[in-house]
Amino acid sequence: MSKKLTISSIKKTKGVKPLVMITAYDALFAKLFEESADMILVGDSLNMSFAGKSDTLSATLQQMIYHTNAVCEGAPNSFVICDMPFGTYTTEEKALENAIKVFQETAADCVKIEGGRDKAAIIQYLTDNGIAVCGHIGLLPQSVRSEGGYKVKGKSKEEKEALIADAKAVASAGAFCMVIEGTKADVAKTVAEAVSIPVIGIGAGNEVDGQVLVFSDMLGLFEAFTPKFVKKYIDGATLVKNAVASYAKEVESRAFPSEEHTY
Ligand code: KIV
Repeated sequence: MSKKLTISSIKKTKGVKPLVMITAYDALFAKLFEESADMILVGDSLNMSFAGKSDTLSATLQQMIYHTNAVCEGAPNSFVICDMPFGTYTTEEKALENAIKVFQETAADCVKIEGGRDKAAIIQYLTDNGIAVCGHIGLLPQSVRSEGGYKVKGKSKEEKEALIADAKAVASAGAFCMVIEGTKADVAKTVAEAVSIPVIGIGAGNEVDGQVLVFSDMLGLFEAFTPKFVKKYIDGATLVKNAVASYAKEVESRAFPSEEHTY
């Protein structure tokens, strides 16, 4: 069993080894991921792949706390990040009140917040008050409605400069690492070089300080759509469907349960 990472050991990986982050929403999968992943993110993406909604915006703090508890139970030796859902960190006071709830009601190691310069004061307030923060810049899923879709970032000089400024603001505010999502690879590389904390990519090329994927995407379980950046390491949906079809066939033919599975 590998040793649980800490804020300081995570920071020290910069320039040494890419960090492996994966999402999980329950104890069952978290336990399976614990051995290989450095960090487990209880992402508000659970609102889509777990709760079946079309975006992350209706995820609630109670939902995040429930799933974070399950993940912490399943993977007690993992560094666990709890995503702060949409609307729970609109002001410094509200962010702190909600992040304290996460820390008091779960064993999460930190919270994650979407935003750059616009969220720097909130990140600073949280870190000043003992809450470790992972930032999240680039494509922000919680902005999908205000931006009218999921838009890749870093396509223009202005966007590149804005992303570098966002990363610097998030790092200066005290975040110990950040996710960069849906960003042109060369820009993400420059962003990672501009700050001294690890920058973990999703859809941001391989020249950053680590990668994160949504587990249901990389296991091929989520069928609604597959973004370009997702690599399906197994065809989970087909495996599961075939297994359940075999079970159904055996129940109907009374082949299951056989002697072996009977008291
Ligand atoms: O909610 C989530 O799973 C995330 C990842 C996409 C980074 O924020």
